[in-house]
Amino acid sequence: MAELLNQQERKAMKRLAEELGAAMSMEARGIDEEEQLQVRLQQQVDEGQLARLPYLEAVMKESLRLHPPASTLLPHFCKEETEVAGYRVPAKSMVVVNAWGMGRDESVWENAHLFQPERFVAGGPDSHIMLGGPSNYQLLAFGRGWRGCPGRNLGLTMASLVVANLVHSFNWDIDHGASTRR
Ligand code: HEM
Repeated sequence: MAELLNQQERKAMKRLAEELGAAMSMEARGIDEEEQLQVRLQQQVDEGQLARLPYLEAVMKESLRLHPPASTLLPHFCKEETEVAGYRVPAKSMVVVNAWGMGRDESVWENAHLFQPERFVAGGPDSHIMLGGPSNYQLLAFGRGWRGCPGRNLGLTMASLVVANLVHSFNWDIDHGASTRR
């Protein structure tokens, strides 16, 4: 929510609100803005709508890229010696994966420090990247492989529903001149 609010001209917030409005058939009903707000407060975006909300998915990926809740994943143990990107990892090493740093790596992401969900929508440079895909190791908020997060679908669904309902139910703003950044 902080990234959506801080973004210049709130483009992502507006685009997401439009997508949600369309999915909830607000436009089709042809009701005015005041009435829409009342209807929106009574409506809830539910799980069934998520598959029809590609921009919401992009917003969630972009949020998890910049702010992975488990920023270093869980510590992993290397059973045998191996090599990763030219670095030797000795057997019995404890490996800590910096998912936070990987999400902000300028050599991997275009405008790595900017919140730009468009990168993940169809036609965007990172549209092929999936949170649980078999490759795509650049987006690691849920880890990957055998010890990857088994609660990924539940976690992502819950977080998506919270963001979707907050954006759909209210018109968001912050005080003039204020920022959500510290
Ligand atoms: C947005 C929500 C969540 C995020 C970002 C998240 C992230 C993670 C990460 C990064 C790991 C470590 C993966 C690794 O080191 O490779 C992990 C492990 C785990 N997560 Fe989640 N998780 C979320 C929600 C959940 C939920 C809802 C559950 C259970 C209902 C869950 C259960 C677990 C368990 C049991 C592990 C340990 C798996 C293992 O070591 O084999 N997580 N999670």
